[in-house]
Amino acid sequence: MTDQTMNKLNDSAYNIGYIVGGGLKANLQARLTVSPQTVQEGAFVVVESGGWLFYGLVTDLQLGATDPRFADEQTESRLPPHLAKLLHGQTLYTNMEILNTLMMEQGPEPDSPEYDAWFQQVLEEKIYPIPAKTVPQHHAEVRLATAGDIAEIFGKPGAGPFFRIGDTLEQAHPVCVNLDKLVQRSAGIFGATGTGKSFLTRVILAGLIQRGKTAVLIFDMHNEYGSDDTASDTGQRVPGLKGKFPARVRMVGLGRGATIRGRTPDYTLEIAEVDVTPEDVLMLSQELNLRETTPTTLEALRTSFGQDRWFHEFKHMRVNAFNVDEEGKRFPAPDSVAAWAEGAGVHPGAAEALHNKLRRLFNAPYIVEEPAANALQQMVDNLDNGQHVVLSFGKHETDLDYLFVSNLLTRRIRSVWEGRTNDYRSGHQDAMEPRPLVIVVEEAHKLLNREMASQTTFSTIAREMRKYYVTLLIIDQRPSQIYDEVMSQLGTRITGWLGDSDDIQAVLTGLAGREALRGMLARLQPKEEVLMLGWGVPMPIVVHSRRYDDDFWKDLLGNNSKQSADEIMEDLGF
Ligand SMILES: Nc1ncnc2c1ncn2[C@@H]1O[C@H](COP(=O)(O)OP(=O)(O)O)[C@@H](O)[C@H]1O
Ligand SMILES: [Mg+2]
Repeated sequence: MTDQTMNKLNDSAYNIGYIVGGGLKANLQARLTVSPQTVQEGAFVVVESGGWLFYGLVTDLQLGATDPRFADEQTESRLPPHLAKLLHGQTLYTNMEILNTLMMEQGPEPDSPEYDAWFQQVLEEKIYPIPAKTVPQHHAEVRLATAGDIAEIFGKPGAGPFFRIGDTLEQAHPVCVNLDKLVQRSAGIFGATGTGKSFLTRVILAGLIQRGKTAVLIFDMHNEYGSDDTASDTGQRVPGLKGKFPARVRMVGLGRGATIRGRTPDYTLEIAEVDVTPEDVLMLSQELNLRETTPTTLEALRTSFGQDRWFHEFKHMRVNAFNVDEEGKRFPAPDSVAAWAEGAGVHPGAAEALHNKLRRLFNAPYIVEEPAANALQQMVDNLDNGQHVVLSFGKHETDLDYLFVSNLLTRRIRSVWEGRTNDYRSGHQDAMEPRPLVIVVEEAHKLLNREMASQTTFSTIAREMRKYYVTLLIIDQRPSQIYDEVMSQLGTRITGWLGDSDDIQAVLTGLAGREALRGMLARLQPKEEVLMLGWGVPMPIVVHSRRYDDDFWKDLLGNNSKQSADEIMEDLGF
C-alpha cells in the first residue's frame, strides 16, 4: 500500500474522549469530549496508551453531572452562552462505556517510512492483536477508529482472503471478513425475516466464488441464489449467481423436466430408489409423524429385501388387498403389505400405517427406479473441478422435499469427502488434498433442531470443524430452534436484528461479553445492519451490510463483469 492511501485511511482520526475508570473485568469508562450524538452504541474505538493500542466497542452512553442541581434544572437559559458551554462538558458530561476487547503493540506512525513494512506484517498476520490483558492508563485518549485501525484488525479489502462485508456505522470505513477463516468452521447468518440474510448471503457467496478456493453447494429451497430474482419489497431485479458466474456455477433442478423460474437448469437430479436408506426415512419421523414401531418395520424391510430393494418392493406392495380361499375366507394377497408383514414377523397394522405415511415419498416424482443420469456423481465432479452447485428445489418446496433431499445428498457427498480425506491422510498414492466444500442451507433449524440433530449429517459436519474438508453455512431466522450443541460449534456468526430474546440468547451461546453484546444485538437497525462475532472475526463489530447492487458486481468483477472469452468457450464445451 502506498503512503498516500494509508494517509487517506487515517485522515479521519479524531479524539472523542479520555479514560476515567473501569477495569479489565468491568468495561472501561471514558469521558466524552464531543457531543454524545457523535458516537453510537457499537462504535469501534481505539485507546492509545503506553505503546499499546486498545481496541474496543462502545456499549453504553450515560449522562452524568458533578452536581445534580445542574442536571435537574435548565440553568443554561439563565447563563450567558460561554458559561452555558462550560456547564456542558464540565459539570454536565457524558460517559461512555467501552468493551475492551483487543490490544496490539503500536506500530510506527502511519506517515512514517517504516509504516508500510509494518502494515504488511500485520496483513500477513505476523503481527496481530491479542485479547486485552491489561488496561490503558487514566486519561489515555480515546478516538474513533480510522479506516487504518480497522484494516489492522479486520484486514484490508481485497488483500488475499479479506473481503469487504460492510462498513462501520459512524464513518463508513470498510470492514472485512477473512473468507478463508470464515469457511474453516461452520458459520451462521441469522436475523429475523426481512433483515437482509439472503442478500448478505449472496454477497458472501459471490466473494467465495470469486476467491475460488472453496467449492460451494447451495441447497436453494426458495430458488433465490442461482437464478435472477425480484426483491419482494422494492420490486427490483436481484441478479443471481448463475448470471454472473455462468461457467463456474451449475444450476441443478430437482426432478426430470424441472425448470427454475422458467429456465432450464444445467442438469436435473433424480434420486435412485436404491439410494434411499431406512435412516433417511427415520430422519423424517417428525415430518411424517412416524410411530415408535417404525424402526423395527424398516429393519425388517431391509432384512427381507436388502438395502437396494427395500424401498422399491415396499412401494409396490398393496394395502387392503385380500384374496379369498376355497372356504370363502379372506387372507392378505401375496403382494400386500400385510402378507409381507406376517411373513417377516412384524405387526401388519404397523407396516400398513408406515406404508401410508411413506406415500408422500412413494409419490415424489424425483425418486425413481432408474435415474436418467448419475447426477450425484456429476455434482461431485463439478465441485471437484472448481465449480459450484446450486440445487434449486423448483416446485418441490415442502419441508419434506427439503429435509429428505438435502440430508440424503449431504450424507453421500460427505462420505465421498471423508473417503478422500482418509486416502489423503494415509498417504495413499496420488490422493490429492480434498477441495474444501461449504454446504449452504437456508431454514437451517429444520435440519438442525434438537430432534433432528442426532440424526442428520448436518450436525456431524457442524461438530467436526473441518476434519473432512466440509463445513456448513447456515442461514436462519430462528436460531433458538437450532440445537445448542450445534450453535456453540459455529465459528463465525453474523446476525441481523432479532426480536425474540431466546433467539438473541442462542446467537450468543458460548461467547464472552454476552451482556454487552446482547444490548447491541437487540438495538440493531431492523435491516441491513449486522453484528459479526465469534471465532472467525478478531472482535465483535456492528457493520452496515455491504449493498448488493450493480456497484457491488462492478467492484467484485471489475470491468469484465461479463464472462471472459475463456469462460464462454468453457461454457460452450470447448
Ligand atoms: N445488502 C443488501 N443490499 C441491498 N438490499 C438489501 C440488502 N439487505 C437487505 N436488503 C433489502 O431488504 C430486503 C430483505 O432482505 P432479505 O435478504 O430478503 O431478507 P431475509 O432473507 O433476512 O428475509 C431485500 O428485498 C432488499 O430490498
Ligand atoms: Mg431470505
